[in-house]
Amino acid sequence: MVLAAAVRPADQQSSNEGLISHQRKIIKQQICQRSKQIKLPPSTYHGDTMEEVNEANNIPEIEGIDFVDYVNEEQLDDVMHLVQKDLSEPYSVFTYRYFLHRWPQLCILAVPSDSGDRRPIGCVVCKIDAKRDDDAAENNNDATDGSMKVYTGYIGMLAVEKEYRRSGIGTSLALRAIRRMQQMGCQSIQLETEVTNKGAMRLYEDRLGFIREELLVKYYLNWNNAYRLRLWLK
Ligand SMILES: CC(C)(COP(=O)(O)OP(=O)(O)OC[C@H]1O[C@@H](n2cnc3c(N)ncnc32)[C@H](O)[C@@H]1OP(=O)(O)O)[C@@H](O)C(=O)NCCC(=O)NCCS
Repeated sequence: MVLAAAVRPADQQSSNEGLISHQRKIIKQQICQRSKQIKLPPSTYHGDTMEEVNEANNIPEIEGIDFVDYVNEEQLDDVMHLVQKDLSEPYSVFTYRYFLHRWPQLCILAVPSDSGDRRPIGCVVCKIDAKRDDDAAENNNDATDGSMKVYTGYIGMLAVEKEYRRSGIGTSLALRAIRRMQQMGCQSIQLETEVTNKGAMRLYEDRLGFIREELLVKYYLNWNNAYRLRLWLK
């Protein structure tokens, strides 16, 4: 009370201005942080070649790196080699086959353009889960088509060789896979990552806009906790 009465209008005005400029600073910082995220505009699947499609979908190319699709089992060893290096727990070959045989189009490899043996230095491996949409089913008892399903994409594995990291390859692989899953009807993308994996957390949260959905306590064999992250596309 005493303090308020002692403040003269001019002082009050200058303290208000100080407050407003402080708030502006915070908002500016927030905008700067957000603008660092790569925005995902609505998907537009136009073009005949993958380059045209990527351009239309705002996916940056990386000089010296080709992004190629998984074709067959001849590439299985390369994918396993890349992913296993950094895993806290090993996956069996059946896990890789489960993903790669059912969703080969959701495995994308990064290959240096000048490499003679075309050995990949990065890869992303994904799948799509389909669940019954109970709300839609309740409103439409007769519908038996795919409109009663909710499709959720899942990034199972993402790895880039150490010497090639911090050049945008991980982001580009993830973006390409996310776009494909969106074009295949996914409403959101999920994944889990160790809470201690700062690089992956920054890539998914700060770069791509994933949000933390759940803390999974002792999720991994090493008893490390995981975050379940989700990116909403619609
Ligand atoms: C996570 C991983 C795929 C990132 O690949 P990458 O090609 O280095 O990723 P990018 O260059 O696109 O990085 C994008 C942003 O993510 C963040 N980031 C990536 N690695 C980071 C690290 N080690 N420390 C801090 N931030 C990191 C940064 O914000 C980076 O942007 P910047 O380089 O402009 O600062 C790679 O580090 C990797 O293979 N790790 C081992 C496997 C793994 O953890 N996979 C993810 C589990 S699902």
